[in-house]
Amino acid sequence: MANTILVGAQWGDEGKGKIIDVLTERADIVVRYAGGNNAGHTVFVGKTRYVLHLVPSGILRKNKLCVIGNGVVIDPISLVLEIAGLRKLGVKVGKNLVVSETAHVVFPYHRELDTHREHHKGKQKIGTTKRGIGPAYGDKAARVGLRMVDLIQGDTFEHKLRQRIRENNEVLKALGAKPLAFAKVLRDYREAGEFLKPFVTNTVVLLHHAMAEGKDLLFEGAQGTFLDIDHGTYPYVTSSNTTAGGACAGSGVPPHRMDRVVGVMKAYTTRVGEGPLPTEDAGISDLLHGMGREFGATTGRPRRCGWFDAVAVRHAVMVNGMDDIAVTNLDGLDTVETIRVGIGYRVGGRRYDHLPAAVEALAQCEPIYAEFPGWRQPTSAARRWKDLPVKARAYLRALQELVGARLSLVSVGPGREQTIAV
Ligand code: IMP
Repeated sequence: MANTILVGAQWGDEGKGKIIDVLTERADIVVRYAGGNNAGHTVFVGKTRYVLHLVPSGILRKNKLCVIGNGVVIDPISLVLEIAGLRKLGVKVGKNLVVSETAHVVFPYHRELDTHREHHKGKQKIGTTKRGIGPAYGDKAARVGLRMVDLIQGDTFEHKLRQRIRENNEVLKALGAKPLAFAKVLRDYREAGEFLKPFVTNTVVLLHHAMAEGKDLLFEGAQGTFLDIDHGTYPYVTSSNTTAGGACAGSGVPPHRMDRVVGVMKAYTTRVGEGPLPTEDAGISDLLHGMGREFGATTGRPRRCGWFDAVAVRHAVMVNGMDDIAVTNLDGLDTVETIRVGIGYRVGGRRYDHLPAAVEALAQCEPIYAEFPGWRQPTSAARRWKDLPVKARAYLRALQELVGARLSLVSVGPGREQTIAV
């Protein structure tokens, strides 16, 4: 399969978990490179539903090595719980999981700061997952973060944590929050550190050895292009480089070793949290929520829904260098009479064929729509391209043309078997 990066082309929740699971069959190693337990990847194997937050989806397949790379921020307590939960469901987690020693650690003060900063922002809040992701990456950039290598080292960890808690307690007090008890945090994190120690290693060297042996790597993107700290709808973004470039920095695998980029997108658009979403539409939101679809895997929040935004996805194809695209949730549109696709924006009297940078302009964008007749018949039983209704095929071909990358997979339901190779 060669080394493949898989990324979300929209605002996250594109159904990457399932597509990664399908592609994992052909990979030897699956690598997470950015984000933290803000991500929620849902995968169905048979009737069992697995929700993964930090552990790569490759864990659900036999003989795959899963790597949590240096670009990820790790809440160790949450990782221990996730491993325990997977084991309870009968999933083997042992030598098949390794964690980068240089990945940064998320602490309770990060979560507290995330929550209180959001609260103080009032109407301007970002709608974060409150998992402490922004403050943890903030500490990393400010060079005051602690890493997995610190967590698993007994004595020095205590000293470093004491300093960090002292400083952060001052900030928490100023924000009107309760300060943290050092002894409790130390106890909990030491315990998690002991549990995780056997998983922690130099993943950069490991990945380079694996490549020298001819192993194929799959890079599992989290979140989506428009949540990227540089390329997203700033400030309504997450705090990492979720786009394909992040795979190199977040794993230590250089750009010239990457062979292919696959972009995952829904047949429509969704977003959780605040921030502009030009093609948002109450009608399609109500329709999808009424079908019991589009509730967040991490927070359970209803996702905001809208029509497919070809302007945004074309930009995502460019920024990530997508070779192929996978369109998911096609079956979500099965009952729609007329399907709309955003093909441009108007702000005031001006037409835009790309996303305006200013968040205020983006919020005022009036989409220019193209319309497609709906197929109005179920697609979830389709297994081959020719099983899809003619109008559904025409819609998918139009999306391919509009965004400028090759359509290679279509997903018509959560099951592994509900995937059509084009
Ligand atoms: P944070 O990553 O928790 O700081 O949240 C920042 C923004 O990214 C919020 O709008 C979140 O809803 C969004 N976000 C973070 N992770 C995900 C995800 O996995 N799927 C969809 N949205 C996400």
